[in-house]
Amino acid sequence: MKQLITLAVLLLSFTMYAQKYDGLAKTPPMGWNSWNKFACDVSEKHVREAADAMVSSGMKDAGYKYIVIDDCWQGERDSLGFIQPDLKRFPSGIKALADYVHSLGLKFGIYSDVGWKTCGGKTASRGHEFQDAISYASWGVDYLKYDWCSSEFLNAKGAYITMREALYAARRPIVFSICEWGDNKPWEWAAEVGHLWRTTGDISPVFDSVVNHGTWNSFGVMQIVDKQIDIRKYNGPDHWNDPDMLEVGNGMSNNEDKAHFTMWCILSAPLIAGNDLFNMSKETKEILTNAEVIAIDQDSLGISGYKYSSVDGLETWVKPLQNGDWAVCYLNRSKKEYDLNYSWQKNNIVDTLTGKKADFEKDKYGIRDLWAHKDAGTTNKNFTAKIASRDAVLVRLSLKK
Ligand code: GLA
Repeated sequence: MKQLITLAVLLLSFTMYAQKYDGLAKTPPMGWNSWNKFACDVSEKHVREAADAMVSSGMKDAGYKYIVIDDCWQGERDSLGFIQPDLKRFPSGIKALADYVHSLGLKFGIYSDVGWKTCGGKTASRGHEFQDAISYASWGVDYLKYDWCSSEFLNAKGAYITMREALYAARRPIVFSICEWGDNKPWEWAAEVGHLWRTTGDISPVFDSVVNHGTWNSFGVMQIVDKQIDIRKYNGPDHWNDPDMLEVGNGMSNNEDKAHFTMWCILSAPLIAGNDLFNMSKETKEILTNAEVIAIDQDSLGISGYKYSSVDGLETWVKPLQNGDWAVCYLNRSKKEYDLNYSWQKNNIVDTLTGKKADFEKDKYGIRDLWAHKDAGTTNKNFTAKIASRDAVLVRLSLKK
């Protein structure tokens, strides 16, 4: 009897022990975040419009569910230390906004930072982590992006664990998005801390260059892709490498946007749209809601793709999928159109990380072109395509019995 009581106490204390909420991100999170388009100009009106448009555009049906307010929603703390919203920008308060987002069948997210001040200079969570987590839980927050500005002298893992424990103690399942820019190799320690972690500095809506902001740089889509290559093995269900939010619809060409979105899906990246959903073009909507492409990102195995080859500015990336399927992506990084004539038999796949193989001499796969939305023969014949500069072709291979 005594032993049983000890066991019960042990089990109870184990379940009370702070941890991350497991199982909230079995596939990469999908949603929208205010930063890339609105930065510190964000307001309640923008967030409501984004939520409405998420539903009316078909994005909700395509799988997007989080509406996240990034930096600059914060006002000051009250006399008891509870964080208040900036009432000029968010006159109805955060709870009312979260309720509205929930009423549309969506989930709601918010932003803070480990330091005294956020990157936008607003009040951050240092010293108030548990108090802030209680506020988030009481407002109905489902997702927290937690940034790394004014973090001087803090240990990254320790600082993020403090907020993980605060969220756990607040007893509301909240996806924890670690935004530490890859400075302290979060892929090595963050799987038990959060559900996703930024792997790089900020993205910009440029395809292939670094943008110099004086004291810091932001990165184009290709620069970010290149930084994912060595960290593939750390990615997986409930713990994702996050190469930053999408810039689709924010000024690149349509082909560049398509290549950007394709690569995020090949990488099993979180798909957090960053454009003005309320005013998006038909082309942007078609990219963001392509169900067959999204299915590559959301594949239940959660295995990130890898660069198979690179010849004359054309990169071939492959990604193992459920049921023995494969995604194959041809990314034309060059400034010229590429005339592809691809022999499968000369390109058998052996993925050394997972041990998965595709033997095209022995097996025949059907080919589905996911941007053209059409079947494209089988792997018994060469695959041909004209690939525009800075564009990508994405196919799905399925074994033919
Ligand atoms: C950092 C983050 C961005 C954004 C801004 C907000 O730069 O990396 O994604 O959240 O802060 O100030």
